[in-house]
Amino acid sequence: MSPDEFRRLGHRAIDWIADYWERVGDLPVLSGARPGETAAKLPSSAPETPDAWDDIWADLDRVVLPGLTHWQSPRFFGFFPANGSFPAILGDLLSTGLGVQGMLWATSPACTEIETRVLDWLGGLLGLPPDFLSTGPHGGGVIQGTASEATLVALCAARHRALRARPPGSPPPHLTMYASTQAHSSVVKAAMIAGLAHGPEDRAHLRLIGTDDRYAMRPDLLEAAVREDLAAGRTPFFGVATVGTTSTTAIDPLGPIARVCREHGLWLHVDAAFSGAACICPEFRGPIEDVGGADSFCFNPHKWLLTSFDCDCLWTRDRDSLVGALSVTPEYLRNAASASGEVIDYRDWQVPLGRRFRALKLWLVLRHYGAEGLRAYIRGHVRSAEVFEALVRADSRFEVVTPRTSSLVCFRLRPQDGEAPAETDARNRRLLEAINASGRAYLTHTVLPPVATGGPASAPRYVLRMAIGATLTEERHVREAWELIRDLAS
Ligand SMILES: Cc1ncc(COP(=O)(O)O)c(C=O)c1O
Repeated sequence: MSPDEFRRLGHRAIDWIADYWERVGDLPVLSGARPGETAAKLPSSAPETPDAWDDIWADLDRVVLPGLTHWQSPRFFGFFPANGSFPAILGDLLSTGLGVQGMLWATSPACTEIETRVLDWLGGLLGLPPDFLSTGPHGGGVIQGTASEATLVALCAARHRALRARPPGSPPPHLTMYASTQAHSSVVKAAMIAGLAHGPEDRAHLRLIGTDDRYAMRPDLLEAAVREDLAAGRTPFFGVATVGTTSTTAIDPLGPIARVCREHGLWLHVDAAFSGAACICPEFRGPIEDVGGADSFCFNPHKWLLTSFDCDCLWTRDRDSLVGALSVTPEYLRNAASASGEVIDYRDWQVPLGRRFRALKLWLVLRHYGAEGLRAYIRGHVRSAEVFEALVRADSRFEVVTPRTSSLVCFRLRPQDGEAPAETDARNRRLLEAINASGRAYLTHTVLPPVATGGPASAPRYVLRMAIGATLTEERHVREAWELIRDLAS
């Protein structure tokens, strides 16, 4: 493809994306494709001769769009959002266009230094303590692909720190790590990938700590579990606290958890994948005011800070342990800048060697919107969530199930008199199916374990989740979604 052809097709691609964003709110949010339907529209082998670009464009509409659930729709309220924005799309395009590898400082100094500075900017906006920033003696931030990778590398750093003082040749200790029963499944997966847990149900190495009536980790149970493991001769080394759990955005209390971790020498990682973005607003920063007691902290701008997937930001105040855990230096990567110790080589802060220039899109987002624009965006969604919550509460058929901590509202149809829990769940499931089948909104669900109330044990509850955070979502879309839900419940 010649540069001129690329220019012509590139303009067309940008037009196509801009048109898509203009009409995405009118498309049915959830794809109705059946298994195999998209594949059936594709030839069984690769083209032997070049396809015409007109056919390729036509296939975007014929093959691709019908098989998409529209995550950028203003009516997308499922899971957590994967929000994007035009500045971020341009940043990704530029990054791909430049095509640099930022594995070493020497392989593209700008790729590393812009990332370091942008993460310092963002850490400052979140109010992170200075020792998490690159300007601190042992701190700094790095972009990971996902929060799952952030947890995995934090675990590796924690293990490195826990083991490095042991005399060579000493028998491997029985390491134990801790997270709440509501922590994201990526914590379990990290334990498995790191070879620590022998499977998803291995509770001998990964202890899942019980939660309170708000689904937040109970520090007293954490303390008891750590003490029990110590008494049994095990080596507790890693704790994960969640700020904004996936099911309900519950907030684990960082202060008391950090005290337990510090007392017993555990690395504390804070996973704020979704809710962390809200901390750029001082009034929503309360949940992380004790983050200074943690060793690492991450959140996903790709969930709720206008930065297209993938972009997770991880900060640590102990980068030596991170680098110690992940650094391997073959001859072909040696260079004078790395040997000088004056530069960051981000390959030592992540699992892969190669890395894209992801900082470009985050840089463009921060520069395009400015901190004020980003705060206004977050505040708008939180306000919309308040409106939605009030509408649910005003309808006696519904209940809000857990306290709203940011822009997620967990709600359901109330049990009717004498109704068995399974039937309440079934009515809620049918309601969710009807909402999603309408094409006019897309929500997802969770099942919440019973809360220990001291009374008779209640049953798990099937709950609908209204997660507000898609880039194009405005209050009117939230009100329209509520009207749809209300009418379908009749
Ligand atoms: C609290 C939490 N942690 C981790 C993740 C995993 O995110 P990622 O896809 O970035 O690995 C999620 C996803 O929703 C999450 O809610």
